Amino acid sequence: MAQFESIFILAAIFFPLFLSYLYRNRKSPPITNWPIVGMLPGLLYSARRIFAFLNDCVRQSGGTCEIRGPWFPSLYFIITADHMNANHILCKNFDNYEKGSEFNEIFFDCLGEGIFNSNSHSWKSQRKVMLLLMKDDKFVLHFQRILREKLEKSLIIVLEHFMKLGIEVDLQDVLQRFSYDVVCMLAVGFDPSSLSVELSEVPIKTAFTQAEERLLYRHLMPVRLWKLQRWLQIGEEKKLSKALKTVDTFLYQCIASKREKLRCKFLAEEDKYDFVTAFMVQEEGEMTSVDGKSDKLLRDVAVNIMSAGKDTISASLSWFFWLLAMNPSVESKILQEMRANSPSINDEKNMFFSVEGLKRFVYLDAVLCETLRLYPAIPINHKTAIQPDILPSGHHIVRNTRVLINFYAMGRMEEIWGEDCLEFKPERWISERGDLVHVPSHKFIAFNAGPRTCIGRKISFVQMKLVAISVLWIIKFKWFKAIMLPQAMPWCFI
Ligand code: HEM
Repeated sequence: MAQFESIFILAAIFFPLFLSYLYRNRKSPPITNWPIVGMLPGLLYSARRIFAFLNDCVRQSGGTCEIRGPWFPSLYFIITADHMNANHILCKNFDNYEKGSEFNEIFFDCLGEGIFNSNSHSWKSQRKVMLLLMKDDKFVLHFQRILREKLEKSLIIVLEHFMKLGIEVDLQDVLQRFSYDVVCMLAVGFDPSSLSVELSEVPIKTAFTQAEERLLYRHLMPVRLWKLQRWLQIGEEKKLSKALKTVDTFLYQCIASKREKLRCKFLAEEDKYDFVTAFMVQEEGEMTSVDGKSDKLLRDVAVNIMSAGKDTISASLSWFFWLLAMNPSVESKILQEMRANSPSINDEKNMFFSVEGLKRFVYLDAVLCETLRLYPAIPINHKTAIQPDILPSGHHIVRNTRVLINFYAMGRMEEIWGEDCLEFKPERWISERGDLVHVPSHKFIAFNAGPRTCIGRKISFVQMKLVAISVLWIIKFKWFKAIMLPQAMPWCFI
């Protein structure tokens, strides 16, 4: 068996080289299912443009296609961008599709038994506690307070610092740090202050990112190989263990400190609205619940929330600013909306809107939806069939088949978005009455659909809108006035 795997790994390495020679004048090779090695060469050849490759796959096969890897170790999955299939898998026949044992195994060391990596009872009860917390008005106020503090004391200060100095700053890095600090405060009530003018390295944030990258590596390795590496504590697995140890040490410290404060009743009212505290006090009385949940589960809750909100928001905002830079007319319309909603925009000391106030920014909403349509932060959703099934497209699903729902391709399907599906056009989201058009979640799929729909959708829009407004305000109003830059200031600092 090991010999077979070696042969396939070698074939997988050399075949793409052969393909790159054969198709040297083409943008992408035709999608071919080769004898023995299946479609693996094409997949590896297109690794750097994998989402475009998978987009081509589903388009060329009418929305759903089968991906066959080498005969051994029988890599086979179905990938679909058909919204009827997505609706069937995620909503109508939800109970038949789980994350699957392979997904669970890969992510268990990091996500543990948290919401992303659990099914049935454990998933349901975690989701219930989270939804209850997020519905609470006090949570919304707490979230607004965190955002205001982070915007005023970090983001605006940092951007102004770099503009004053007139030097470039990596906006994506700034946005990642901002989102990380916010989600850390939401998860465990602790501000790691990774966003400051020094932009210095924060070990826990680095460890988190390293762990996520190492987990990606597990997807590319034969299962037995990464398990052997883990057992021997060598290579990427050794680095993963080290990163997870740093993450765990930090989280267990936060949990211990929370427990202590709860036990001594030192917890201020506003400190009770993070996820870990919500799980601690979820059971009847406070005193019984302090010790009610195991530290391990609380650690899993925190890691899952941090994974959910860390890079999703910052990636979406990075695309948003890039799209604005490429489409100045869209940017002008957002600035117009900002002027309309805040007539004293040029005199204001700061721009902050409550959740209610943000509802007036309909065009900004549309631009963010359009960004997420074309660049969903989670581009693919992974499911495994528990029982045989037939998809609405007519594809037969055998038990244990892996089914990937291609969110990236779904955002570019003509059947859903029309002929101009590849164009960046926020106007498609505005109705004749000037409201935001509602698109069902199995079509606008960036936040998933059905019972496992993202619970952070609403707060993500609040955060993205506030960051977008603050950044644009600083650059286009405050600093434009201060240093008299020309109107069409290039986004040279990105
Ligand atoms: C632009 C921002 C975001 C996007 C595009 C997004 C997207 C998604 C998607 C596609 C899923 C389904 C994942 C899966 O089933 O494997 C999901 C689930 C989830 N999201 Fe988000 N998310 C965002 C922000 C957030 C934030 C800020 C939070 C919370 C603080 C959050 C919390 C969750 C949770 C807890 C789940 C699991 C739901 C479940 O399995 O029942 N998300 N999100």
